[in-house]
Amino acid sequence: MCGIVGVNGLNNATSVLVNGLKKLEYRGYDSAGIYVNEQNGKDHLVKAQGKIINLENKITDNVQGSVGIGHTRWATHGIPSVENAHPHFSQDDRFYLVHNGVIENYLELKETYLKGVHFESETDTEVVVQLIDKFSNDGLSTPDAFHKTISLLKNSSYAFILMDREQPDILYVAKNKSPLLIGLGSDFNVVCSDALAMLDVTDLFLELHDKEVVTVTKNDVKIENENGEQITREPFKVNIDPAAADKGAYPYYMLKEIDEQPAVMRRIQGKYLDNNEPKFDAKLIKQLTDATKLYIVGAGTSYHAGLVGKKLFEKLAKTPTEVVVASEFAYDDPIIEDGAMFIFLSQSGETADSRQVLVRATNEWKVPTLTITNVDNSTLAREADNAVTLEAGPEIAVASTKAYTAQIAVEVLLATAVGRIKDITAAKEIDLNEQFSQTANAMQVVVDEKDQIQKIAEDNLAKTRNAFYIGRGLDYNVALEASLKLKEISYIQAEGFAAGELKHGTIALIEKGTPVIGIITQAATADNTRSNLQEVLSRGANVINIVREGLAKDGDQIIIPSVDEIMMPLVSVVVGQLMAYYATLLRGYNVDQPRNLAKSVTVE
Ligand code: AGP
Repeated sequence: MCGIVGVNGLNNATSVLVNGLKKLEYRGYDSAGIYVNEQNGKDHLVKAQGKIINLENKITDNVQGSVGIGHTRWATHGIPSVENAHPHFSQDDRFYLVHNGVIENYLELKETYLKGVHFESETDTEVVVQLIDKFSNDGLSTPDAFHKTISLLKNSSYAFILMDREQPDILYVAKNKSPLLIGLGSDFNVVCSDALAMLDVTDLFLELHDKEVVTVTKNDVKIENENGEQITREPFKVNIDPAAADKGAYPYYMLKEIDEQPAVMRRIQGKYLDNNEPKFDAKLIKQLTDATKLYIVGAGTSYHAGLVGKKLFEKLAKTPTEVVVASEFAYDDPIIEDGAMFIFLSQSGETADSRQVLVRATNEWKVPTLTITNVDNSTLAREADNAVTLEAGPEIAVASTKAYTAQIAVEVLLATAVGRIKDITAAKEIDLNEQFSQTANAMQVVVDEKDQIQKIAEDNLAKTRNAFYIGRGLDYNVALEASLKLKEISYIQAEGFAAGELKHGTIALIEKGTPVIGIITQAATADNTRSNLQEVLSRGANVINIVREGLAKDGDQIIIPSVDEIMMPLVSVVVGQLMAYYATLLRGYNVDQPRNLAKSVTVE
């Protein structure tokens, strides 16, 4: 959460910062700011509440310079306001700082070191910049004051970029837990939370590790570890076409990303299937095959993809699998037996809750780990023993769509790879090439029938206060995801329920006209779910069915093409994504940037 950028050595620093912030807006959008220094005694601080466009509107032509920092905020401490927007500055106006993360002991630091200091904001970040200033006034050099301040931060997450008006040609950078990269150029260098922010100026990046402190000038990058030793590290190239992160002619990223799903399936098929055999690193497949129990860890949509993954690994590989919510499991006291392996699902690869579990899996339980993520070189990818990339392309809309289906597709392939080695019939029998091609085609049929889904959303969801998705088995897993999509962007109170569980309490919520969307793609439970839909219909619910061909009956509203039942979540969820999209449009909300949320959740 929060996105930060820094530029050193580009004459158009202002526009590079603002464009970078626009690319990072998915990380938070309740206020933004930049600080730019002309290095001739003149400098500029501009901050605005709300989206980057508000900041842009406040930037006048004279806000120029070649060195600067910027920030887009997802509020943790202090309401969204101009005062709480970054960059924050010291009371004598010497130091400027942007920060992504949370300083857990900021109140204690304020109390101990900063009595009498004037604070402009309610943020934890301002304590850091005031501390640097205090230590500098006590006689420390800027790097020493920066180091000393960092050494006092307890249990905190941070990515910092600091500027000192007395040395305006240097960016001081540090990171712990929050993501940060240095982008390399010729005669300039940049800093960013995500490579996407700077792809217009460079595709060459240096990763930073926790507790490192970096000095960035326009033609030098000096990295030091926490013991003060200098580190050299090879840069890596990011092969993302900057256009992939643009929405092109689409009104919203979410719609573009929904539409891309058939292509993502084909990309995954191309990359991870060879002659109908899954193609992954041999060591990874051996670890997965040797595992006697799998734990799948995720949050939000990734957790929902994990729920589907459990069924896939149990059916195709016969490996007992538990799916856990990262934020809960991170502080649980589980019994982890020998033979366990952990799989982390994360679109961003930066989710702090999941990372907390990864740290325990590595250090405490000492089990093999795999991260399945959409972002190469992300923290979770780097820190796990193995990493598999989703190949979904940049996902910018806060509501995750193509990453969810890509996660399930990769799980299908991994589970089949393991199952074939274990000689499991279901894994041997599935024709992966055919299933992936059929699934891509089936998704295409759904996205091509948007108008029908739009109409159903218009008739049933435009004005409702609440809505329920129900299903059994894999359909229940999709019900959870479809309802998360609906609630997070349309603000309809939506829930996913196990269809058979309604009569044990939830059915009390049904009133005349309550939309209940039933998902029916699994033959074994189709009749049961239909009975449960009858039960809510009899109590006045407004029932909408999403049914796979072959199971459809007269009166069903949305018939989706049939693929192997284990692949059906990949098709049925697209209907849920589109329903959420259209319901949100109809209700007049911003589809890509729902209130209170951010895409990459780097705080616990
Ligand atoms: C999904 O639509 C979300 N906005 C959210 O639940 C997300 O899936 C969750 O925060 C996990 O993120 P990750 O996949 O990047 O780890």
